[in-house]
Amino acid sequence: MELTAEQQQIMDGAKGAFLAKCMRWLVEWGAAMGARRLIPVTNTHALVTVPGNLVWGANQKTIDNAMTLLRPACQHRVCCHSTTHITFAHEEQYDEIEMPQEQVEAQLEVMEMAREAGFLMTYTCAPYLVGNVPLKGEVCAWTESSAVVYANSILGARTTRHGTESAIAAALVGFVPEFSVLLDENRRATLQVDVTAQLRTPTDWGALGYFTGKIAGLDVPVFQGTPQPSQEDAKQLCAALATGGGVTMCHIVSVTPEAATLEQALGGNPPKLKVTFGDSELRDSYSQLRIHTGDAIDTVILGCPHASLNEIAEIALYLKGKRLADELKLWVCTAYATRANAERLGYAKMIYDAGGYLFCDTCPTNSMRLDAKRIVTAGFKQAHYARNMIKAEVIVDAVKGCLDAALTGRWSYVG
Ligand code: F3S
Repeated sequence: MELTAEQQQIMDGAKGAFLAKCMRWLVEWGAAMGARRLIPVTNTHALVTVPGNLVWGANQKTIDNAMTLLRPACQHRVCCHSTTHITFAHEEQYDEIEMPQEQVEAQLEVMEMAREAGFLMTYTCAPYLVGNVPLKGEVCAWTESSAVVYANSILGARTTRHGTESAIAAALVGFVPEFSVLLDENRRATLQVDVTAQLRTPTDWGALGYFTGKIAGLDVPVFQGTPQPSQEDAKQLCAALATGGGVTMCHIVSVTPEAATLEQALGGNPPKLKVTFGDSELRDSYSQLRIHTGDAIDTVILGCPHASLNEIAEIALYLKGKRLADELKLWVCTAYATRANAERLGYAKMIYDAGGYLFCDTCPTNSMRLDAKRIVTAGFKQAHYARNMIKAEVIVDAVKGCLDAALTGRWSYVG
């Protein structure tokens, strides 16, 4: 790989041993991916946290391993706009999720270090909802696959899928290897999806994403025939695309900045494959994540990816003056900044008064010790991972179906 004089000097240790190591990580990763150079990055979204699986059995060794990366990293200052992906939980929530003491201490230390290093403590999987909105063409280094798809497809920014080390390294040295969707030729659509099903809710968009992700592999899908999505629709589509498969970006005709027309999205080439997403594909996508042996439920999870203020308002107003079923757990997950707004607007209180909980900074699947038997959720991504990681029965439904289930303690198919 060709390095500039500045990049070579950093790799040779001009800015210290840790930044030299960061540069080596980026160069080795780039070489493995066929990159020919490192290019400047101006926006990162990094996972600055101790690993999520610790809640399933925290031990000192895994904490120490995480700290071996994070302590020296946070001795340095980020060199561009850098937000943070989820952590375990905001301090006041530690009791609610029964976090082991050694993990609480490690996480508090990490949060303090991240603040000192200049990371913006967004602690969210949807940074675009709380101020990290890169411009079209801006080169980014983001973790969190759903956010990566959103950045590329809805905002027209450019980011490959990053892991913990590469995003932190990019935030500190200001470069990323140029490959995949950072290059024009890899952003063109190769899979055409003609949408004939009626998409009525954000969860329906999740069904479209789940269906497409499974057949796309590493292809770039283009959707034509959809209505104009809301921000919440796009959020569910992008999250499910990255869950069902390895999609990094998609095009929605007349929505994606690079897809004013189908022809533009395809770059003038015919698609490798053309499929239709109609009513039967919509039904099939739901039925894959509605395998259950009864209708009594114990948990409802909303806010995957993290809920927008609009979604919180919808939930709060639906629950206003009502009470959840006995023993029913309703967790709504969002970013700290969004929750602060929801508190100011009175929505948080409506959710609490009904018996629900508005979490911030964290994720119920990756981060919490969740003792659930049967979960109803509005996110295809949440449903997919909860089934596999928590081993609970899972039912995916639109927000209204989830809330009706939360109020009655039973889920019933409405259609
Ligand atoms: Fe966010 Fe967790 Fe869903 S990280 S996208 S709430 S699985």
